[in-house]
Amino acid sequence: TRTPVNVTVTGAAGQIGYALLFRIASGHLLGADVPVKLRLLEIPQGLKAAEGTAMELDDCAFPLLKGIEITDDPNVGFDGANVALLVGARPRTKGMERGDLLSANGGIFKPQGKAINDNAADDVRVLVVGNPANTNALIAQAAAPDVPAERFTAMTRLDHNRAISQLAAKTGASVSDIKRLTIWGNHSATQYPDIFHAEIAGKSAAEIVDDEQWLADTFIPTVAKRGAAIIEARGASSAASAANAAIDHIHTWVNGTAEGDWTSMGIPSDGSYGVPEGLISSFPVVCKDGKYEIVQGLDINEFSRTRIDASVRELEEERDAVRELGLL
Ligand code: NAI
Repeated sequence: TRTPVNVTVTGAAGQIGYALLFRIASGHLLGADVPVKLRLLEIPQGLKAAEGTAMELDDCAFPLLKGIEITDDPNVGFDGANVALLVGARPRTKGMERGDLLSANGGIFKPQGKAINDNAADDVRVLVVGNPANTNALIAQAAAPDVPAERFTAMTRLDHNRAISQLAAKTGASVSDIKRLTIWGNHSATQYPDIFHAEIAGKSAAEIVDDEQWLADTFIPTVAKRGAAIIEARGASSAASAANAAIDHIHTWVNGTAEGDWTSMGIPSDGSYGVPEGLISSFPVVCKDGKYEIVQGLDINEFSRTRIDASVRELEEERDAVRELGLL
């Protein structure tokens, strides 16, 4: 029998947490043969609701679930963590300036980064979901100097999945025929979903679409503003689709991308494609043997270059702002 993998979920009592925990416990995160132990990290006000969720997890009698621990202490929450899903974050409330938002989240992600540094397992893999995800990941990573920087990632998989779905709807293709789509940059309205290297059943997606106007005026804004459209329709922000994307992100990282395909992950830049080293930006990546590598050598046309640069500029501004706040 395999030793259980320790999976820590922060913000466990929130709506993404609720959509996420049952799928982790039923084997969708790592595989149907991998036992897991869950650690739910919440703030004191969230502990009771987290206990309720844990009762429901018990009631599912999941064969793979080997234990649940609930805590509001990051040092306990990340103790021995192999996978850390940082979902809990401080949402922007009315009248809050961007600086206030960044500093409120710095107060969460800096101590959590340190707790990961001091307590997590040597092979820890971190996914930041809580927004602003890329910059929160940067703050946590900077607070964890003993953990290899590349273990800190930010989620753009929801954007990636949204883009695949929109492209499938436009072309009448099946989602499983779409490969090599890329999200570049920040998980924000400036993100750039790129279909110029994408393939639909082996043929160039850009040639099949053959409509730059649709790309610029419909596809890109629809993907980038999908979160707002969900809030408008549902009266609450995306939760099940965000949880699904978090599952996809870790599953792909650990188990690999399919032959001939790649995925999108927010990862520390190594300077590829002109993205300044160290920024946590979304790239096309191939995953293999539990590691990821940026897909190299893609030809970036003018249309793409402008948009990648704009999103990267926003990431630089966020980095500079948190640096000024003393969070890096
Ligand atoms: P929610 O408000 O329902 O839940 C957040 C939970 O985090 C709450 O239970 C809260 O008590 C907890 N929390 C707050 N501070 C914490 C701390 N320091 N430690 C542990 N737990 C803490 O929010 P929801 O809908 O679950 O979303 C969570 C985050 O995910 C938000 O920041 C949201 O913007 C982000 N998000 C990111 C997406 C992406 O694609 N990267 C997609 C959708 C949401």
